[in-house]
Amino acid sequence: MKITVLTLFPEMFAPVLGASILGRARQAGHISVDVVDIRPFSARKHQNADDAPFGGGAGMVMLAQPICDAMDAVTGPDFLGRRVYLSPRGTVLTQRKAEELAAVPHLVLLCGHYEGVDQRALDLCVDEELSIGDYVLTGGELAAMVVVDCVARLVPGVLGNEGSAQSESFSGGLLEYPHYTRPRTYRGLAVPDVLLGGNHAQIEDWRFAQSYRLTLARRPDLLANLSLDKRQRRIADEVER
Ligand code: ADE
Repeated sequence: MKITVLTLFPEMFAPVLGASILGRARQAGHISVDVVDIRPFSARKHQNADDAPFGGGAGMVMLAQPICDAMDAVTGPDFLGRRVYLSPRGTVLTQRKAEELAAVPHLVLLCGHYEGVDQRALDLCVDEELSIGDYVLTGGELAAMVVVDCVARLVPGVLGNEGSAQSESFSGGLLEYPHYTRPRTYRGLAVPDVLLGGNHAQIEDWRFAQSYRLTLARRPDLLANLSLDKRQRRIADEVER
């Protein structure tokens, strides 16, 4: 999968894209991420990329021209992909949305700054607006990194162990169960016996009960559209009692 990020602050991305799982996934060629500076696309004398808003008001607005030229340059005439603008005004990112974007061959992420971008850049060169949550960041860069991270880990090969993308919070509609590793007792707290017993059916039931209990306590809204098999339903009923 190919991801292109358009930004006025390309230097923000290197440490995030170069480290850990994303760094390895890029090295291995599972994903490619290009970060493109918008500023050199500006046709203005000093390559400004923003100006004061028509109608007045605080802050600066990013110019449509450099954004659209940058977008044209990275997409080309037979572009098959999605152009996404990161904005608190967008639809909120969910695991389902990440799965949808992970299936797109080429994702272009446009980062805004200042008070926003000229609406015509959005009308002409963007397919959708995406928010990473109901709070406001100083720019779209951190949001774009969040999108790259959560989309990339869904691309086949990126996580090595494909099972780990599956069992996590949200994929199954529930929050993730607690994990333990050595030692068996730490500061007086022991690992639950069931995890040491080697009975895989019991372990699976225990993990499901834990997931269900956590979801019920913290995110009961997630339980509304959950489909459970018979065994899970029985465990869920026990947890609810
Ligand atoms: N830019 C500023 N705030 C944002 C948010 N919450 N999500 C995506 N882009 C943003």
